[in-house]
Amino acid sequence: MEIPERINLNEIESECWNLLVHGCLKGKEPFHTFVLATNSESGVDLRTVVLRKVDLINRLIFFHTDIRSQKVNQLRNTNQPGILFYDPARRIQLRMKSEVQFHSDDETANQIWKETRISARKYYLSGKSPGDILENSFDSLPDHLHGFDPSEEESESGRENFLAISLKITQMDWLFLCSQGHKRAIYNYKENGFVGNWINP
Ligand SMILES: Cc1cc2nc3c(=O)[nH]c(=O)nc-3n(C[C@H](O)[C@H](O)[C@H](O)COP(=O)(O)O)c2cc1C
Repeated sequence: MEIPERINLNEIESECWNLLVHGCLKGKEPFHTFVLATNSESGVDLRTVVLRKVDLINRLIFFHTDIRSQKVNQLRNTNQPGILFYDPARRIQLRMKSEVQFHSDDETANQIWKETRISARKYYLSGKSPGDILENSFDSLPDHLHGFDPSEEESESGRENFLAISLKITQMDWLFLCSQGHKRAIYNYKENGFVGNWINP
């Protein structure tokens, strides 16, 4: 991100969303993944997930997961899950708060599942839930899927475990590390637009 002499809060906000779109499309970009923070019964929990889709109009970011995974219950019990992106080359951190929406059985989920490659569908075919104890490390998938993809027909049995999750961004905290002085801005989103302020880094 180029920081012009007279830096503008609105331009930074829109550049952040451009970087998210870019990260979503390019697997090697640091914004291709993010850290999602939730509350668990034993404290805060964190994990990396892949940024699958960005909806600029509605300020939504999407990721996919197994409906049986622990994060799903935790998301139900977390007020405003946290999101963290960091781009070391651009020296930008984005820290966000969000509201969750689950897409298990709606048009959004059906469409995304239809577009999901067989090789990715395979991981929804485990007979075990994420986090379950295994007898050995190969026990996650049926034997015939070790090193092989399922047929399209078999892959469909993973559909019931597939969940798309959208996170509606309610706040974005932008931090730019700069040798001439770090910069930080906070954006609070409203129904129509946002209020942005500079804050002390
Ligand atoms: C680079 C990377 C990308 C990942 N992407 C996803 C993802 O998109 N969805 C997902 O459910 N888990 C993803 N994982 C695995 C999670 O970080 C986590 O280990 C798993 O989902 C279990 O999390 P939970 O117990 O909090 O539900 C990814 C892990 C890494 C290292």
